[in-house]
Amino acid sequence: MNRPSDLDFLREAEFPYLDAAGHAYLDYTGAALAPLSLVRASAARLGSGVYGNPHTASPASQASTRLVEEAREAVLAFCGASPREYAVVFTPNATAAIRLVAEAYPFGPGRPLAFLGDDHNSVLGMRRYAARAGAPVRVVPLGPGFRTEPSAVTACLGAGGQGLFAFPAQSNATGVRHPLEWVGEARRAGWRVLLDAAAYVPTGPLDLTAVPADFVALSWYKITGFPTGVGCLVARRDALAELRRPWFAGGTVRASSSHTDWHLPAPPPEGFEDGTLPFLALPDVTAAAAWHREIGYDAVHHHVTGLTARLLTGLTALRHPDGTPAVRVLGPLSDRDRGPTVTFNLLHPDGTPVDERHLQHSAATARVSLRTGCFCNPGVAEEANGMTPEIVHAALLRGTPADVDTYLHHLAVQAQGAVRASVGVATNTRDVDRLLEVCAELVDGGLEGEMPEPRTGC
Ligand SMILES: Cc1ncc(COP(=O)(O)O)c(C=O)c1O
Repeated sequence: MNRPSDLDFLREAEFPYLDAAGHAYLDYTGAALAPLSLVRASAARLGSGVYGNPHTASPASQASTRLVEEAREAVLAFCGASPREYAVVFTPNATAAIRLVAEAYPFGPGRPLAFLGDDHNSVLGMRRYAARAGAPVRVVPLGPGFRTEPSAVTACLGAGGQGLFAFPAQSNATGVRHPLEWVGEARRAGWRVLLDAAAYVPTGPLDLTAVPADFVALSWYKITGFPTGVGCLVARRDALAELRRPWFAGGTVRASSSHTDWHLPAPPPEGFEDGTLPFLALPDVTAAAAWHREIGYDAVHHHVTGLTARLLTGLTALRHPDGTPAVRVLGPLSDRDRGPTVTFNLLHPDGTPVDERHLQHSAATARVSLRTGCFCNPGVAEEANGMTPEIVHAALLRGTPADVDTYLHHLAVQAQGAVRASVGVATNTRDVDRLLEVCAELVDGGLEGEMPEPRTGC
């Protein structure tokens, strides 16, 4: 990698399959793409070593154990975390990392759960564990521009009790980056903080020395596209010590008895790793972290910021023949405190949103990959459609909807959510322009026609 400030060369070197397939990939917030060099390095490693199930004395096992420990070190370095203060627990994905905390955190009447109206379903689901333990559950609402007012966070943290505050470093729906200073503020107020960094770390650096979150959840496929199936809970050792696991399993105990209900938990991180780790994939994390470091966050930032600006400029310029805007962007229009995720609705001339499946269908036909729906972030969809808590409660009082369309019908909204385009290191300007062309064609064509596929979910 000899031109770290210009990433266009990566397209041909690492992602030739995109142009070979005529594909414009704009779903980087869904998953990054696998660089060829990482895939080849993985195959070469597997073809030249003998790797067994880790943690026993055999040479094959020891070879794996060594690589697993190297991967932990690589993750700590990636997050700027000291091994004295932090441990790395490997999980299948960010969701599993969040669930580890949810099921083991000592929620109770004096230990609430608080999260943002911008959190992912994988965080929202924590409220089931909190409610079961009798803990208050507080939602900090979204404010203007899909951001959250800092004063609302302060009020939430000061409303009684000291529990767990979970927030996304970057919204997976709007690209908004929430202030990392909230980590320090919440900890000073006696709260533990779960930072959902899944959407942020692919393009935003995390330094846990400066931002000492108690728990950090991330998925590797979002950072470098490869490997899949590996996530991490990077956790402060003192915060892990406070967790009480609800069960034990292979790998998480030092000893146990089949006759009595007794077990001796393994210390962290192993005590949190259920079953056998994906030991052949973990060395890929070490390589992926090195690959990402070699490119450098500055170059990534420069690359994706330019593409995001091009996308935003092109979308906001789209007009109907009568001059009315054809696009509403859900999220920031400037590059301040945002990542490279752009979510929007096409609009009818009367300003109502177009069913997002129209664009999904046209984009797919043009081999442009993007996302539609609410991206597992119902708070942003609710905010975009003006659904107050009262409206949602009233809709649910009309009966439990059996499917998404019935739910939307009860809510009387035209669009389930929106269209999300997100860029990354493999994206080039032509990809962005292809999406803009698809949008322009739809707008010029009057946005009519058959409704394509049924909705499957959010
Ligand atoms: C902000 C955020 N949190 C959590 C997740 C869940 O990640 P995973 O599906 O890898 O568990 C995602 C995935 O899109 C995300 O963007």
